[in-house]
Amino acid sequence: MALRAAVLGLGIGRTHADRLAKMDGVELAAVADINGELARQVAADCGAKAYADAGELLEEEALDFVSICTTPASHLEFTRLAAGRGMSVLCEKPMAPTLDACDSMIRACRDAGVKLMIAHKKRFEPAYRLIKEKTGGEFGPIRWATVKYALGRVPKPWFWQEEDGGGPLHENAVHMMDMMRFLIGEVERVYAEGGNMFNPEHPDQLDVAAITLRFRSGAIAAIGAGQASEWGFATENVTLSHDNAVVEVGGRFDSPFHLRYVLKDDSQTVVEEDFEGFDPFQAELAHFADCIRSDTEPLIPGEEGRSSVALCLAVKRSARTGEVIAP
Ligand SMILES: NC(=O)c1ccc[n+]([C@@H]2O[C@H](COP(=O)([O-])OP(=O)(O)OC[C@H]3O[C@@H](n4cnc5c(N)ncnc54)[C@H](O)[C@@H]3O)[C@@H](O)[C@H]2O)c1
Repeated sequence: MALRAAVLGLGIGRTHADRLAKMDGVELAAVADINGELARQVAADCGAKAYADAGELLEEEALDFVSICTTPASHLEFTRLAAGRGMSVLCEKPMAPTLDACDSMIRACRDAGVKLMIAHKKRFEPAYRLIKEKTGGEFGPIRWATVKYALGRVPKPWFWQEEDGGGPLHENAVHMMDMMRFLIGEVERVYAEGGNMFNPEHPDQLDVAAITLRFRSGAIAAIGAGQASEWGFATENVTLSHDNAVVEVGGRFDSPFHLRYVLKDDSQTVVEEDFEGFDPFQAELAHFADCIRSDTEPLIPGEEGRSSVALCLAVKRSARTGEVIAP
């Protein structure tokens, strides 16, 4: 029997709906958006039922899982409603604006016996997966990392609000904070210099930071993140020095398709791989559906999403106070 699914919020949720509508073994039953016209359009494109009220959708539909793609301030409310009706939850990043909300989401899903995964799609990107597989093995441990992860301008008001998106260093940098944790492990301390350099219309929000991380393993990382680029120009660049290898990932912002590395004992042989065209949304949605079918733990459970939120909050606190913070 196909898994019955729904998508709430149809910004990036439109991509989720499109992938689910085409996925074997899944029936996209319904979509919701407070913009009812948008909901009707996407529903018609995907052969699903439209709702303007996501709460009503969760009341009316019998579903195996729901993909929550509304803005972060509503992730807790919809997770509680879905879990209360026995539905597993895939929730877009960042998990929530606060750690209390993350904890409540984890508790709601645990109490209901349903699965919770946070949609950190980068963990499915083949370049990063290859590094993860070789780290600790052929590459040895990571000791040093530098990252450039600067996005273009985002005009959406919720993105900037502290109680919703939390600005670029939370809403967006959480992708890279999660990737650093995925590859290197937990962070012992954070120091960040930051400010509002380019977005005076949001004077209370930080927009950029230069971030230093010390990991429990002893590794160190320097990260430049925030709204410091332009969309036609923005790239993503990560360099890692392991005990036995030097590795670089790069590409257009959010499309890290190019990987190159060299082993330190064969330093003239540069290995290059190109993953152009990979679709991380398809991969994460298929993974979550598989976890439900096989009753296995998803790759990014709520606890992982929470730790990445904690790291972003620590970065912002350090940038605002000048203190070194333990996340
Ligand atoms: N994984 C990724 O690469 C990625 C990319 C973009 C956005 N996101 C995440 O997805 C979430 C949404 O971001 P977006 O860029 O799609 O935002 P958006 O503003 O473009 O779209 C959000 C949509 O949700 C609808 N909506 C808002 N509140 C609602 C509610 N209570 N009930 C029903 N519909 C509601 C809005 O009408 C809008 O259509 C955020 O958490 C964001 O961080 C993730």
